[in-house]
Amino acid sequence: MLGYQYYNLLSSAHLVSALPLQKIYAAQEQINSAHQEILADRQADVLGFYNLPETNTAYIFDYLAKLDARFDTMVVLGIGGSALGNKALYSALKTEAELPKKLFVYDNVDPIFLDEVLQEINLDTTVFNVITKSGTTAETMAGYMILVDLVKRKYPNDFQKRIIITTDREKGFLRQVIKQEGYQSFVVPDNVGGRFSVLTDVGLVSSAFTGIDIAALLKGAGDMRDSCLTPDVFNNPAYLNGLIHFLYYRQGKNISVMMPYSNALYDFADWYRQLWAESLGKRHDLKGREIFVGQTPVKALGTTDQHSQVQLYTEGPNDKVFTFLTVERFKHDYTIPNLHPDREEVSYLGDRKLSELLNAERFATEIALTKAGRPNCNLVFPQIDAYHLGQFIMLYEIQTVFAGKLLHINPLDQPGVEAGKIATYALMGKAGFEKERAEIEQYKKDRGV
Ligand code: PA5
Repeated sequence: MLGYQYYNLLSSAHLVSALPLQKIYAAQEQINSAHQEILADRQADVLGFYNLPETNTAYIFDYLAKLDARFDTMVVLGIGGSALGNKALYSALKTEAELPKKLFVYDNVDPIFLDEVLQEINLDTTVFNVITKSGTTAETMAGYMILVDLVKRKYPNDFQKRIIITTDREKGFLRQVIKQEGYQSFVVPDNVGGRFSVLTDVGLVSSAFTGIDIAALLKGAGDMRDSCLTPDVFNNPAYLNGLIHFLYYRQGKNISVMMPYSNALYDFADWYRQLWAESLGKRHDLKGREIFVGQTPVKALGTTDQHSQVQLYTEGPNDKVFTFLTVERFKHDYTIPNLHPDREEVSYLGDRKLSELLNAERFATEIALTKAGRPNCNLVFPQIDAYHLGQFIMLYEIQTVFAGKLLHINPLDQPGVEAGKIATYALMGKAGFEKERAEIEQYKKDRGV
């Protein structure tokens, strides 16, 4: 099980930044009503991610068994919730297990980035997985048109087997394309939002393809879900973490820093960034009143950012709450040779493990932050594997929804993102967006551009 060390966030009198436990007890009514809302949402089937651990994944393995064995690479085309989970899982596990197959995630419209991906892959042995719940996102559709065109021209006789599409079960333009072209398809369920979808086909197909143990991933998620069902926050890590972040936010900690001491987990800080930002950053509450809430998630990497960010974190504005991600056992480790035994400048490092130094530095940062009165906690991975990543994903998905309930906002929508998507359609001249196009023209005229 993941370990939680909340010591520096709660109670102990000598910790100047710690929340007194009374604050938690005083929040009992808010906790109960947030819990009731979650139960009602589950009843109404809008929090589908809770049920994903029970997915029967046989159809994914059936598909993979039929896939041409020469395919050794998958390129995911997607963005936001349709990309970040895939990327995070692959980068966490490719270093720990020797995954037999490769994954690239093209989640931008940067031409140089596209060129780099194309340079890296062998088109003959690559399958493209276009992932978009809406089937309309400009970035993903642009990548789809370029790459499917390329594949169709190079492999006119068997292009179908090189393309898969993951989208809504019925709706959207891509469903029609699937029917027309006969592509293999997978589903983004209606009751699971983009950023909560890594444990659906969105993340499972690419993970199973590369060799990640998706049964262990779902098992970890299920075990965590089962530990997060009670309204008793002291026995529900997702609620406790959500509540603590909420209470600190109310005390002016507007920033939540996630700092893995592990390169492999860095992309999970990215995944968290989207989940926390897009779910909780909202202008209106559920009654439509303007409230402008949201805690800004920031990612940092230990130890690298000790030489970049930690100065600000210890001495800058006291407006942050910190979460370290620590790994207890690394699958690969190095012993530092005692190259200069008679030089005290470096001999203390000799014969020590790199992981020992890494975790000592993590603890040193914790001490420095705590001394400076900066609230911090530590999430401990016994090791990096699919099981513990499944736990992590479920923990944060529940925590995010719970924090949304405490803030009285809808954590499942993203009107701000939609506004940007609409402006892009208008700028690029998509039919049906003429009114928005006229507004943009006026905007440009007003600014003389
Ligand atoms: O969480 C979300 O809903 C968003 O981040 C989406 O995942 C993102 O905008 C991509 O949308 P789509 O999957 O429809 O292309």
